[in-house]
Amino acid sequence: MSDEKKVAKLEIDGKTYELPVLSPTAGPDVIDIRKLYSTAGVFTYDPGFTSTASCESTITFIDGDKGELQHRGYPIDQLAEKSHFLEVCYLLLYGELPTPAQLEDFESRVTNHTMLHEQMQYFFRGFRRDAHPMAIMVGVVGAMSAFYHDSTDVRDEWQREVASIRLIAKMPTIAAWAYKYSVGQPFIYPRNDIDYASNFLRMCFAVPTDDYQVNPILSRAMDRIFTLHADHEQNASTSTVRLASSSGANPFACIAAGIACLWGPAHGGANQACLEMLREIGTPDRIPEFIARAKDKDDPFRLMGFGHRVYRNFDPRAKVMKQSADEVLELLGIEDNPTLQVAKELERQALADPYFAEKKLFPNVDFYSGIILEAMGFPTSMFTPIFAVSRTIGWISQWKEMIADPQMKIGRPRQLYRGATLRDYVDIDKR
Ligand code: CMC
Repeated sequence: MSDEKKVAKLEIDGKTYELPVLSPTAGPDVIDIRKLYSTAGVFTYDPGFTSTASCESTITFIDGDKGELQHRGYPIDQLAEKSHFLEVCYLLLYGELPTPAQLEDFESRVTNHTMLHEQMQYFFRGFRRDAHPMAIMVGVVGAMSAFYHDSTDVRDEWQREVASIRLIAKMPTIAAWAYKYSVGQPFIYPRNDIDYASNFLRMCFAVPTDDYQVNPILSRAMDRIFTLHADHEQNASTSTVRLASSSGANPFACIAAGIACLWGPAHGGANQACLEMLREIGTPDRIPEFIARAKDKDDPFRLMGFGHRVYRNFDPRAKVMKQSADEVLELLGIEDNPTLQVAKELERQALADPYFAEKKLFPNVDFYSGIILEAMGFPTSMFTPIFAVSRTIGWISQWKEMIADPQMKIGRPRQLYRGATLRDYVDIDKR
């Protein structure tokens, strides 16, 4: 590797420090500042990690300027078109596309872990019926560490593998049961004779009194939604999982932390917030009013489903999602869906507006996903849980990579302290 060849020079108080520049296989060079404090006695300052690489990774690459996303080198649009979710899970987790025998083995391992410990039902029943499904997911996934003791030792490679398979397999059951609980319907057990996406739809929408046939169009669309959300390198929830796990915490606790982070409206919660915004806009004639609000510095309102920290171009996932929304709504015979019409017109007007052009704000993955999910029959509160089901594989793959990394250290950022300096305690009667 040519890692050590380039150096960056940093001058502080007339003294020059040389910092190695590391070359990635793709993307910008990275200045290695690991020895900066021990040699120069200074920290760097980067709230929000806008210019900081927090780890070395081989899983996902994003070119934000070009609007490209690749998993292990394969572009997302090819994976969305030609592959399917469990194959993408294998690719993310093990680094290569599987052979037919490897895929069959992997699918069978996942399928055989989809049931939850029967006792976990009582855990669900402890929540209020009006609990947000994300609140239930944070609690139930964290509680998995109390149910699956034999896969919590992160130093044991086999236990890590079992925990990974359990999480991929059980997450759809947990999300579906959170939904069933919220609508007061009986839990539907997973079935091993149908595929991952169909199984999830069945667990959400079947009832014991009727036969339930999964619509293959919806199943394909569901699988594509899972695939498009599978991983996105060091985003907030993935970084949360990595940071939580850097202390040696068990995988279920770490993934629960990732789910909690994903819930926020700036991250995974944006799909729910976006559909609610589109409904609030209601008709295309109200779009200019909302665009004006998004541009107003004194109004905290933002166009949900627009903008991204990394993409300064179209989010490639949004392109596939838009096409999928058109297909699904057409196949379901609801192509004149008013929310889709508002979304398309909002996208058109925002992209033609200099504010959004100058700031390079484009639709992101959350802009069209809610329209598809709503057409499938999901309430908005289930949008972010579905994101969590999809992103579980990304969290696990990044977690697995991190634990196997010999450079792994506990995550412990520094700070720019601007508080009071040393002073003596003042007794309460003297304040
Ligand atoms: N509507 C209006 N203005 C916006 C928007 C928006 N959606 N997003 C960013 N801006 C403006 C922002 O006001 C700022 O303007 P100025 O430079 O004048 O202060 C500028 O663009 C840069 O914004 P930022 O907040 O500094 O950028 P960021 O990289 O920290 O934030 C973001 C990225 C995704 C949090 C932000 O674009 C946002 O809040 N978008 C809406 C929420 C959303 O759709 N989130 C989903 C992200 S994709 C899926 C996921 O990650 O889970």
